[in-house]
Amino acid sequence: MPLKVRKLHPLFGGEASGIDISKSLSSAEVAEIVAAMDVYGILLFRGQPLSGDQQIAYAQHFGPLDLGLRKINKTRVKHRLGHEALIDISNIDESGNIADRNSRKMFSQLANQLWHSDSSFQQPAARYTTLHSAVNPSWGGETEFADLRAAWDALPDRTKAQIENLTSEHFALHSRINLLGDTGYTEAEKGVLPPVTWPLVRTHPGSGRKLLWVGIHATHIPGMHIGEGRLLLAELLEHATQPDVVYRHHWQPGDTVMWDNRATIHRGMRYDLDERRELRRVSTEDVDVPARQAA
Ligand SMILES: [Fe+2]
Repeated sequence: MPLKVRKLHPLFGGEASGIDISKSLSSAEVAEIVAAMDVYGILLFRGQPLSGDQQIAYAQHFGPLDLGLRKINKTRVKHRLGHEALIDISNIDESGNIADRNSRKMFSQLANQLWHSDSSFQQPAARYTTLHSAVNPSWGGETEFADLRAAWDALPDRTKAQIENLTSEHFALHSRINLLGDTGYTEAEKGVLPPVTWPLVRTHPGSGRKLLWVGIHATHIPGMHIGEGRLLLAELLEHATQPDVVYRHHWQPGDTVMWDNRATIHRGMRYDLDERRELRRVSTEDVDVPARQAA
């Protein structure tokens, strides 16, 4: 059965049906999903519970797996999900209890509440992320999304001309250290993922649309006064995430949301950190490789 997509928001996002993502996909199915992702930026697959292995296998159809911040944290945060690329988006420690408030795990839960594109602090960054819902808190914990292509489209021409040829620098630990106050990183850890520089305006390869490449990992604009650059980045991020352009996803168990990190940014909404919230994330690197064929 071919992929069907129902729109989730006037600007982007779709609920997908017609493909069972728990099974190995044909190359035609992979191509259908990629084509839909290029249009919608995010796809929701509802009511398809996935094991960790199934989620890994699904993501591998789209490219090599991305470890992101695990490259820094793997010696400090014990892994409880059994696969290095299965990223534990939860407030649960390795013994199955609510993690300590001052643990790195909790800082990560808080950092996820800031608008970002996964792994924009490295090159290659992440292309696709799949996030699968396991346990939801009684309030909060939704995930919000915004489309960076729509953000570019809506900018005044004067601003477009001002920023078109600028760059920005992204650093993996900027939000953790400078914004949230996590002082626990060693100098060696700070050096694992050195800052990277991106154009502030990029073109999305799948749709050919220009996009405003902003997010919380951006620290400053090289060549511009530090304060002026930071204010410009904050203004552009605010522009990209106005309430009427945001899709807020209310998680149900068995939901998988897949998003294109090259076209969208996202954030988790606040929830009571004393309640369990468990999501599993798998991301792929933004590199071009032949899609894996069905077995
Ligand atoms: Fe994220």
